Amino acid sequence: MAVGSYQATVFRRQPEHMPLKIAPSLLSADFARLGEEIAAAERGGADLLHVDIMDGHFVPNLTMGPPVVKSIKRVATVPLDVHLMIEEPDRYIPAFVECGAAMISVHVEVLPHLHRTLQLIKSLGAKAGVVLNPATPVIAIEEVAADVDHVLVMSVNPGFGGQTFIPRSESKIRAVRKLLDAAGNRAPVEVDGGVDLTNAARIVRAGAEILVAGQAIFGTGDPARATRALREVCNAFVGVDGPGALRRDG
Ligand code: DX5
Ligand code: ZN
Repeated sequence: MAVGSYQATVFRRQPEHMPLKIAPSLLSADFARLGEEIAAAERGGADLLHVDIMDGHFVPNLTMGPPVVKSIKRVATVPLDVHLMIEEPDRYIPAFVECGAAMISVHVEVLPHLHRTLQLIKSLGAKAGVVLNPATPVIAIEEVAADVDHVLVMSVNPGFGGQTFIPRSESKIRAVRKLLDAAGNRAPVEVDGGVDLTNAARIVRAGAEILVAGQAIFGTGDPARATRALREVCNAFVGVDGPGALRRDG
């Protein structure tokens, strides 16, 4: 088969095997120019906008609350992926859904009644995701594996942008994918922290379908181009390695 048609086949196959989504994290955007930054990321093909909510308790940093999310929603044309790094998330989930969150991710580390929280998010009409910190074992979500709409693997300790990807996260992505598959759940694995052009392809190969990136997009000065580049580096990997590369080998 000619190389051209071989690659065309690979690219056509990609969506059903690996519907990759790029979610620029606004944490690294210039907050004084949020509208322009959002528009640039969307021009570059952002599929989602990742919004980090921090309370200064669960993580040692503070960011924004529902009013800012509401303003983001007013200008965004893609769904908002809201990552709650807060204690007692149940108290604020309705407000964030009301302000336009399409996806809400909550940390298993703060939730003794995780199942109830996931049901709460779903009952309000948003996608319910659970987040694992680097030190949290995959087994912590075994009992809700059939119930989640996505699983977010933290590949840095949450709280700040611009940290280095923790290499062990790669095997964790595989393990989470395996757990979801065993539960018969096609929910995507999302990865957050230190994702950049040097590791994105490996992360996708491990089974991630949603890539969050802050510094690698907004730290470049050209968010549109950086968003495009991140997708291209994953596509190039698919083209180079062929369909076998899309097999999950964990
Ligand atoms: C960190 C946040 C991330 C952060 C990622 O606690 O959850 O979403 O913005 O930033 P980068 O991609 O710069 O590591
Ligand atoms: Zn995040």
